[in-house]
This record gives sequence, C-alpha cells and structure tokens, in this order.
Amino acid sequence: MINALKEVESRRRKILEMGGQEKIEKLRKSGKLTARERVECLLDENSFVELQPFVESRNKDFGLDGLPADGVITGYGTVDGRPVCVYAQDFTVLGGSLGEMHGLKIARLLDFALDAGIPVIGLCDSGGARIHEGVDSLKSYGEIFRRNVEASGRIPQINVIMGPCAGGAVYSPALGDFVIMTKNRSCHMFVTGPKVIKAVTGEDVSYSELGGWEVHAARSGNCHLVADNDVKALQLVRKLLSYLPLNSGEYPPVVNTGDDPMRKTPEIYEIVPEDQRKPYDVRMLIKAVVDNGEFFEIQPQFAPNATVGFARIDGKSVGIVANNPWFYAGCLDVDASDKIARFIRFCDAFNIPLITLVDVPGFLPGVEQEYRGVIRHGAKIIYAYSEASVPLITVVVRKAYGGAYIAMGSKHLGADIVYAFPTAEIAVMGPEGAAEIIFRREIESSKNPEEMREKMVEEYRRRFANPTRAAARGYVDDVIDPQYTRIRIASALRVLERKQKRRKHGNIPL
Ligand code: HXC
Repeated sequence: MINALKEVESRRRKILEMGGQEKIEKLRKSGKLTARERVECLLDENSFVELQPFVESRNKDFGLDGLPADGVITGYGTVDGRPVCVYAQDFTVLGGSLGEMHGLKIARLLDFALDAGIPVIGLCDSGGARIHEGVDSLKSYGEIFRRNVEASGRIPQINVIMGPCAGGAVYSPALGDFVIMTKNRSCHMFVTGPKVIKAVTGEDVSYSELGGWEVHAARSGNCHLVADNDVKALQLVRKLLSYLPLNSGEYPPVVNTGDDPMRKTPEIYEIVPEDQRKPYDVRMLIKAVVDNGEFFEIQPQFAPNATVGFARIDGKSVGIVANNPWFYAGCLDVDASDKIARFIRFCDAFNIPLITLVDVPGFLPGVEQEYRGVIRHGAKIIYAYSEASVPLITVVVRKAYGGAYIAMGSKHLGADIVYAFPTAEIAVMGPEGAAEIIFRREIESSKNPEEMREKMVEEYRRRFANPTRAAARGYVDDVIDPQYTRIRIASALRVLERKQKRRKHGNIPL
C-alpha cells in the first residue's frame, strides 16, 4: 500500500507542476496567476477538492503525451461556505487548448454540478480546439455546449475570461449566464482571429481591438463585468454568487444588512428633477432605495440607457431594471432591449424578485433602429416580463409613454404591484407630440399658433400626462410620496414572498 501510494503521489506531484517552471514564469510576467492559484483564490481556504487529475489524452499524434491534467483542473469547493464547482484551464499546458479529454472533464463536471444543484464557475484561458486532436476536440466542445444548455436556468453558470478565449472556446461562456473579463492585454475573445480576418477580409486588427474587454463590455455586450486583474475578477465572482441561489429550486440567501426597511428616502426629491426633460442618473435613485446604497451593476458600459443589476432590500436579493435618462433620455433601443430581457429571464429562472423603475420616453426612433430589428428586440422585453413569475414590483418615476410604458413591467404584463410618483406621466406619447397631432387643425387655424400650441400641450398634460387616469383605472396601485419608496417596496417583497413559480425556463443568450 505504502509503495503504491508513493507511486500515485509522485504522479500527482508531476501534475501539480503544470506546464513546467519556464511556462509558469512566462505566465507570471504577463501579470496572470496560474490556473491552480486562480482556483485557490476563488474558493474558501483549503476547500478545493480536485476531481480526475489523472485523466490524460488518448490521442498521441504529433507527440502529444502526458499533458498534466490534460490542461484543465476540475473539482469543487466552497465560496462563503456554499458549494460550487469550478474548472480552470491551464495555459501552461499547450495553451490551455481543449483536447478530447480536457473537454470531457469539463462536460463531466457540468453533469456533476447539475446533479448536485450547485453553480459552475469556468476560469477560461485557452487557445481553442487542440489542433493536434482534430475532430475529437470538436466533439468535446459539442458535449460541453449541450450540457451548458441543459444546465441553463437550473444552476448559475459564470465564466471568467482570463486569457485568450479563441474559436470554439467562446461558446461555452456565451451559453452561460455571466461573462467576466480581465483587463490583462492577453485577455481577449473572438471566433476568428486577426490572421484569419486579414486573409479573408483584408482587415487589419489587433487582438485587443478585435476582442479585448473594451469591445465586449461596451460594444458587443458579450461581457457583463470587467476587473483590473485576476484577483479582482475572482472577487467579483464571489460577490456575484452572494446574490444568487445555488440552483433554480432554491431562494437566494437573505443577509442581515443592518439597513432599516422602514428607512425613508426623502433624497429622491432632489435626485429626480421635476422637469421631464432634465436628465438624472437613475443609479442615484437605485442607491437611495436599496440596502446601504449597494448596487451591483451588470453590463454598466453596454447600452447604458438601460440599467440592470443586483441589490438587496430588507436583506433580500432583488434584480433592478431601470431606464437611465442620463443616456439617450433613457430610450429603449435594440441593445437595451436585449440587456433588459436577458436580465429579467435570469432573475426569473433563479427566483430573484424584480424591481422596475420606469422613466422612458419610448423606443428610440430612427431608420437604423428599425433596420436592426428594434421590433424583434423590443418584443423580448415584453416576452420576458409576461413570462416572469417572480414578484414584479414597478415604480413609474416620470415618463412612461406608449409601447415602452407597456413593456417596462406594466400591470398589463403581469406586475404584482405598480406604484407611480406624482411626477409620473403615463400616456400614449409626450404632450408635445400628442398635441401636435390631435390639435393640428386648431393650432394651424389659430391667429397665434405658438400660443395655441402651448395651450393645447398644457391641456393634454393636465388630462392625460399624469398618473391620475392610470390610477383611476387601477393600472397603478397607488400614487406614492417618493420618500416612502423603499418602505413600499420592502413591504411588497414581504407580502409576495410566497408567490408560486409557474414554470421553468432556460436562459437562452439574447
Ligand atoms: C494546440 C495550441 C493552440 C491550439 C495555442 N497552442 N493554441 N496548441 N491547439 N488551438 C499552443 C502553442 O502552440 C504554444 O505551444 C502554446 O500553446 C502557447 O501558445 P503561444 O502561441 O506561444 O502563446 P501566445 O503568443 O500567448 O498566443 C496565444 C494564442 C495563440 C493567441 C491563443 O496561440 C493562437 O492564436 N492560437 C490559435 C488560436 C485559434 O485559432 N484557435 C482556434 C482553434 S479552432 P508551445 O508548445 O510552443 O508552448 C476552434 C474551432 C472550434 O477552436 C469550434 C467549435 C465550435
């Protein structure tokens, strides 16, 4: 037994050396942690249990032999005492490339996590399909993708891009729930790299310009959060997990935040300007309402005219969805629609109540938006709210016009409680546009058209552009004093605690 054990331990030591000292040094010089250090950094101290370290490639072509752990470390451990599964691709082993067995280790871990009902965190650092192994590596990608979809909406799947993420490597993160990138210059995501692009289209582009964090955080929307370095990215994962349940059958943990749910929020008087055209940053409003002003924003750089993220109210996790008048007057466009719809569907899958703050002049008008399919994308918000069965609490802050009024968590799509501030304007369109259309004849035939226009705008505003009509019909449950916003939301969350989930769904990338 002792000798056999010695033999096993000597093999294990070899595996723990990863791709060798030289490659590890190179990695460190580029400002990255090793795959094993990343796992240690993510998990609670000494909690990691490795699975299948001895797995190796069956393919021996082109001198492939004895790659430590076949280039990926898999196992489980705890974060803040709660179990999670984790895998970390090891760039020191053939560039973290995904061979057949490397891929099957990840696929088996996904099966394990799904059976155990716990989140999976992927620490990605890979040159893509291991070219030496041909179609065997493609097969393993397919096995992973199928399991990503099976796990979608059932266990949280979070991926951190910590180095290259090339070719087939991009799709598993894209099928998961959240992608975090580091600002390290060797960290990029793309399907086809600069060399192929140059050959096919003639375009010259660097790795960073093509798939660095700036691109994916602000333009493509593939990335949800960005961190300065490996350690900070792993801290973000821990924080994100703190808002989530372990699986779709559970509720998120309730935390004693020490912030009184009966706290008044008179600062909202100052935050929200009375003048409908004056912008403000809705994040100030969110911070005023949530526990200790802590708002964990998701995709802050992408479609900033919509704001989404996690927070706590009365210690309970909530998802916040808001229009942000600070950018493009808070209009809904193609990207904002996708961002909002996907966030709603994530929260709905994982039992996180949704608080919607509405201040929206409508869908962004323009030929470009129509051509890009704003109809199809906007429909995703309507679909997501209508499908959602978690508690839905909506506050109409100022403007709520037309289709955007309906789409933004209205009573008509199933909101449980809708409140409006006295400044709310709920109407088919803004008073200026409305008066121009329905009083066109009166304005044109008037001796003083300008004066008449102003009069008619005021008349329309008095009649329709306020919360009174919506409240009279019961589309708004009450018109509230903004200083009681937090108290009303906390109370709504309590009364809706037992709301039954109607059906389950995945979290398809939108
Ligand atoms: C096998 C690979 C590899 C790969 C890198 N390596 N990518 N080995 N298969 N896909 C190896 C290198 O040969 C090298 O081995 C080591 O990893 C480190 O790579 P370097 O090039 O020295 O590192 P660096 O300069 O940092 O560049 C990293 C890189 C580059 C940007 C990832 O290696 C690269 O462009 N690789 C190819 C990326 C790619 O086109 N992948 C797509 C594959 S097709 P040594 O022995 O020298 O250390 C695909 C389609 C699947 O994924 C579709 C499924 C749906």
